[in-house]
Amino acid sequence: MIFDNHNRPITYLRLAVTDRCNLRCFYCMPEEGIKYLPKQQLLTYEEMERLVRVLARLGVSKVRITGGEPFVRAGLMDFMHRLATVDGLTDISMTTNGVLTAPHVTALAQLGVKAVNLSLDTLDRERFHKITRRDELPAVLHTLDALLEAGIQTKINAVVMDGQNTQDLVPLADLARTRPVDVRFIEEMPFNGEGSHYPVLHWTHRRIVDELRAHYPDLQKLPDPPFSTSANYQVPGHQGTIGIIAAFSRTFCGTCNRIRLTAQGTLKTCLYDDGVLDVRALLRRGDSDDELTAAFLRAFAHRPATGFEAEQKRDTIIESMATIGG
Ligand code: GTP
Ligand code: 5AD
Ligand code: SF4
Repeated sequence: MIFDNHNRPITYLRLAVTDRCNLRCFYCMPEEGIKYLPKQQLLTYEEMERLVRVLARLGVSKVRITGGEPFVRAGLMDFMHRLATVDGLTDISMTTNGVLTAPHVTALAQLGVKAVNLSLDTLDRERFHKITRRDELPAVLHTLDALLEAGIQTKINAVVMDGQNTQDLVPLADLARTRPVDVRFIEEMPFNGEGSHYPVLHWTHRRIVDELRAHYPDLQKLPDPPFSTSANYQVPGHQGTIGIIAAFSRTFCGTCNRIRLTAQGTLKTCLYDDGVLDVRALLRRGDSDDELTAAFLRAFAHRPATGFEAEQKRDTIIESMATIGG
């Protein structure tokens, strides 16, 4: 296993397979969308598989497929089957918006995907339409049912937005009452593709917990699994759990085991950095596996301690979450 310069193991790769998306969530991209990458600038599936094999030899055991929306890229399921053959991977999972996912759920379960995270910010059709600028709530709820039916461990990711969906906190959390689903509330981060910054974050992890506790006075803190992004809670008697991800407050940097590859093959060793290595360039100039390994190891030896440190090195953030992969 490889440890970074702050003694954190690197075991988790977030791999973005596309920057395209079929929704337009306003906290992620502007209404007109972002300028999508031309196909030749995207890593091919063969290139991705090779990088995963190199990283798995270095000790990466968990790969999460992200996007954009992974299912917007053609050929995704064939790639998932290839990933399932990589030695050393013990955990292949995916984060999806659920619009196109339902028909693939059985195949995902069969190939060994045990966990899927589903983005869902509200259970109200009108608000869903307003937030995502598309009327797709029924398809997403259908995916949720399919995931639970297939026995896939499902987490719901809800970004908490002042004035948009705070009335949805309790209804979303209440899904865990009767279903084995983990509902996680995420502090909004400044990656909406437009460069706007928030002077203050209105809904911090503390405020979210307070709001939930007002409704569930017996909300219990659970022990968090190692490397968890979420602080986890449960209402006694509920089947699932509730989590809070302090993505903006960045309270979990000390145990960060994650690296990212964007769809164009840029390595990020922190969500808040600007990209630290153009891996696609190395691949396409013909670097060997050993040369790729050496380049990864150099990057892992220079990781920022926190997202604040990484952010300081940047001028502005105009990135969309869809190009980063979340
Ligand atoms: P699990 O593997 O199920 O724990 O999921 P995850 O939280 O690692 O991934 P997911 O794709 O579900 O992301 C949930 C939220 O956490 C998204 O808003 C991510 O952007 C955010 N997130 C994930 N990793 C990091 C991180 O390293 N730093 C920060 N600040 N946010 C992160
Ligand atoms: N802030 C916080 N979370 C975000 N996501 C997308 N954009 C943002 C943002 N600006 C979340 C989505 C998805 C996950 C990968 O990232 O809800 O579930
Ligand atoms: Fe890791 Fe950066 Fe996220 Fe902190 S902010 S947890 S260092 S990716």
